[in-house]
Amino acid sequence: MLINVAPDIETMGIRAARVIANEIRNKGRIVLGLATGRTPLPMYKELIRLHKEEGLSFSHVTTFNLDEYIGLAADDPHSYHHYMFSNFFNHINIPRKNIHVPDGMPADKEAVGIEYEEAIVKAGRIDIQVLGIGRNGHVGFNEPGSSLGSLTRTKYLSEATRREAAKEFGSPEKVPKEVITMGCGSILNSRHIIILASGVEKADVIKAAFEGPITTMCPASIIQLHRNVTAIITADAAAQLTLPVEDIMGI
Ligand code: PGA
Repeated sequence: MLINVAPDIETMGIRAARVIANEIRNKGRIVLGLATGRTPLPMYKELIRLHKEEGLSFSHVTTFNLDEYIGLAADDPHSYHHYMFSNFFNHINIPRKNIHVPDGMPADKEAVGIEYEEAIVKAGRIDIQVLGIGRNGHVGFNEPGSSLGSLTRTKYLSEATRREAAKEFGSPEKVPKEVITMGCGSILNSRHIIILASGVEKADVIKAAFEGPITTMCPASIIQLHRNVTAIITADAAAQLTLPVEDIMGI
């Protein structure tokens, strides 16, 4: 695992964007796994800048988002569809047909996960999966207790995550109880994982995920099983790590 410590969240985002931009420039046609939340916002901002100012093209990029709330329509301002279009897709030249965000209003909750996995395989699998990390160790919406081999399926949120999300929804009661999320196994099937974290409030979970036991109680600890992980984290989030921190050439 490469661990790159950034001085602040903006630099973290710029470095993550640079890894993705290099891959797009080298290969042209790539499949990206994308995350929502506060953490990846500076990365999206920099990717948009690279598109507008430096001609980075997303015309052959395909995307798969990690998760979505069940019961929220795509145009609901709290949905991850809405987040992705307003923070990223509306500002780049990605074809609509290349965008995949799990359906929050599925007619068949069993089938929707299976179809999502089939679409990932049909696209040629995920080249770079971007991950944030929840304070309780979740990745995507794989909460503590999730199977480490799981694939995309619907799940119920933990109370801890609903309390965190209440900041955006206004109150915990308004946060949907059910979600659809790529599984830990889906994430491990990607070719390269970029995990991002910032803030002192993530220091405990970064320590647990990177240096603690691989356990279903900390689903983010699955990154220890992956062959190709780049962690880009701010100094305050990295504060408890004892692993050596490496400088990554070119980012
Ligand atoms: P955050 O969320 O980026 O808003 O901290 C991360 C997560 O819960 O996965």
